[in-house]
Amino acid sequence: MEALLCRKLGDPTTQPDSSENTALTVSTSHPIPKLTSPTSIRVRIKSTSLNYANYLQVLGKYQEKFALPFVPGSDYSGVVESIGPKVTKFKVGDPVCSFAGVGSFAQFIVAEEKDLFGVPDGCDLVAAGALPVAYGTSHVALVHRANLKSGQVLLVLGAAGGVGLAAVQIGKVCGAIVIAVARGTEKVEFLKSMGVDHVVDLSKGGVIESVKSFLKTKKLKGVDVVYDPVGGKLMKESMKLLNWGAQILVIGFASGEVPVIPANIALVKNWTIHGLYWGSYKVHHPSVLEDSLKELLSWLARGLITIYISNSYKLQEANLAFSDIKDRKVIGKVMITFDDPKSITSKL
Ligand SMILES: NC(=O)c1ccc[n+]([C@@H]2O[C@H](COP(=O)([O-])OP(=O)(O)OC[C@H]3O[C@@H](n4cnc5c(N)ncnc54)[C@H](OP(=O)(O)O)[C@@H]3O)[C@@H](O)[C@H]2O)c1
Repeated sequence: MEALLCRKLGDPTTQPDSSENTALTVSTSHPIPKLTSPTSIRVRIKSTSLNYANYLQVLGKYQEKFALPFVPGSDYSGVVESIGPKVTKFKVGDPVCSFAGVGSFAQFIVAEEKDLFGVPDGCDLVAAGALPVAYGTSHVALVHRANLKSGQVLLVLGAAGGVGLAAVQIGKVCGAIVIAVARGTEKVEFLKSMGVDHVVDLSKGGVIESVKSFLKTKKLKGVDVVYDPVGGKLMKESMKLLNWGAQILVIGFASGEVPVIPANIALVKNWTIHGLYWGSYKVHHPSVLEDSLKELLSWLARGLITIYISNSYKLQEANLAFSDIKDRKVIGKVMITFDDPKSITSKL
């Protein structure tokens, strides 16, 4: 099968080639993974999305390290291709989606049936491959951890990116007043078209003045929940906008800088700081993650959330997808998609 291989850590934006020089290479003869247990399932992948974490993994800067060589990629959708003898929930041909630590930038992946989610009627199968990590993270953060309520003010940093745009949409579903922060006209116009209540364009000025004048016109005191996948100076400034009793969702550090949240101010202002590592719920509290993804898939089927895909690439063009992430070009999600070649079959 075709698979993208990370054979050494390095820059994933360099075009994969067969020489030994690039971090990534496309293998056309990678072994098709075998079923690993009687309850395992092999999925023929239709689409897999890029997350910022995938970029960090190939660079070797992610919190988890993988033995080389590895196939990068985490969330995916596709069709059940083969099932173990004790599988009860799925049959060959069913549309499914899921996520893995690594391995989705390939034509096939094997998962346990308990880790797969049926993609309901009415959901686009390609879009479902972008849902688990980005929407799962934002849903667990806003709904499970912050218990976001209708009428609360939600400030989303990095709002046009993968997790950010998911947080914006989930915030609207919860009935929050959503303030989105992004850089540049294209992202700002897009966020306005999504119906957010206020957008801050960082290319035109800082976050404080813009948000304060919006809050004043709406007779609101401050921000109740801040969703932060960016960190650095932006988060430092955003703290000046938080209400007494506010909640801070620490999601990531796309700016490259881990923010310092002073404990003395958290004490005086009764802030709650939530550190969130979504993937670790699979080990420590899997039912939260499962319930969350089932709810998100039902929202997707009912049109309550829409997955916006700014660009789709073939596996051979994976470097271009990584470049989009690196260059902050992505609005929503960037994908790698596979055709449905009838010729590809696998053997147990
Ligand atoms: N905690 C978890 O479980 C979890 C789960 C998923 C993701 N994350 C983390 O969340 C962060 C965002 O992930 P994502 O997949 O949503 O990424 P993404 O789609 O690339 O979005 C990142 C956003 O951050 C903003 N940004 C600000 N400074 C940046 C910089 N120096 N370089 C790149 N982007 C910058 C960009 O917005 P502007 O250009 O508009 O400023 C961009 O839209 C990453 O740190 C990721 O590791 C954490």
